[in-house]
Amino acid sequence: MTKVLLVGCGKMGSAMLAGWRDRGLSAADVVVVEPSRPALGVPVVATASDIPADFAPDVVVLAVKPQVMAEVLPPYARFGGAVFLSIAAGKPIAFFRSHLGEAAALVRAMPNTPAAVRRGITVCCPGPGVTAPQRNLCAELLDAVGEVGWVDDEALMDAVTAVSGSGPAYVFLLAETMAAAGAAQGLPPDLATRLARATVAGAGELLRLSDESSEQLRKNVTSPGGTTAAALGVLMAEGRGVPDLMAEAVAAATRRGKELAG
Ligand SMILES: NC(=O)c1ccc[n+]([C@@H]2O[C@H](COP(=O)([O-])OP(=O)(O)OC[C@H]3O[C@@H](n4cnc5c(N)ncnc54)[C@H](OP(=O)(O)O)[C@@H]3O)[C@@H](O)[C@H]2O)c1
Repeated sequence: MTKVLLVGCGKMGSAMLAGWRDRGLSAADVVVVEPSRPALGVPVVATASDIPADFAPDVVVLAVKPQVMAEVLPPYARFGGAVFLSIAAGKPIAFFRSHLGEAAALVRAMPNTPAAVRRGITVCCPGPGVTAPQRNLCAELLDAVGEVGWVDDEALMDAVTAVSGSGPAYVFLLAETMAAAGAAQGLPPDLATRLARATVAGAGELLRLSDESSEQLRKNVTSPGGTTAAALGVLMAEGRGVPDLMAEAVAAATRRGKELAG
């Protein structure tokens, strides 16, 4: 059985662990390093030096905050036979190789918050030396919390982050602003909030389950001259509508990602 060492078991780490356990990962095949040491139903140790000496992981999942990663990594260099899977936002492959050794096999991954309800999407980028079985192993672990995609060009990870990593916030903003706009039209605020929330969630589920593109689904609910067409005329207005704003927003997030990576 695959042996997994999970370093950091906060929001994202615990979502992944729950997914793996549901898929049959036995408690004997995982060790968690987490200073807060919550009761997780699997062996949890506080520091890397407490990892049982006979535990030989196939994969080391790095799920601590990016800002503590540099100080966390050194003791894990000894697991050179494993593939390292980092989910830390913005930390490039070269960063990990400089702390774990140039021979370290590392997959850089960018998940997103819907992983908490197993509807995430994670995009992975393999570093040098990652074998096909190691890629498959990482994909299998991430698949437990949603979809998985791959890019070979690491430079694309900033754009991935700008679309799917930061993207849930754009959708939450949509729900927020729809609710506020409904209240501005006289709806009781509670009802407006409920309508917006259910509409965003329901449309999202329809999009997930449908074989049709988002564009086609939009066209399906837009009758010429109707109410939806009136709203879309505003939302899609040339130069000041959602398409232009979204392009600008995603470009800003991509730029910021590059700046943060240095
Ligand atoms: N949350 C997201 O939506 C999201 C999306 C994409 C990527 N990510 C990435 O996922 C990673 C984890 O994010 P998160 O939201 O799950 O953060 P989080 O909830 O803060 O989890 C990180 C965990 O690591 C623990 N930790 C701190 N130092 C440690 C050490 N030396 N060894 C082992 N564990 C240690 C922390 O414990 P203490 O709290 O006791 O310090 C905390 O429980 C980050 O790198 C982030 O960039 C997160």
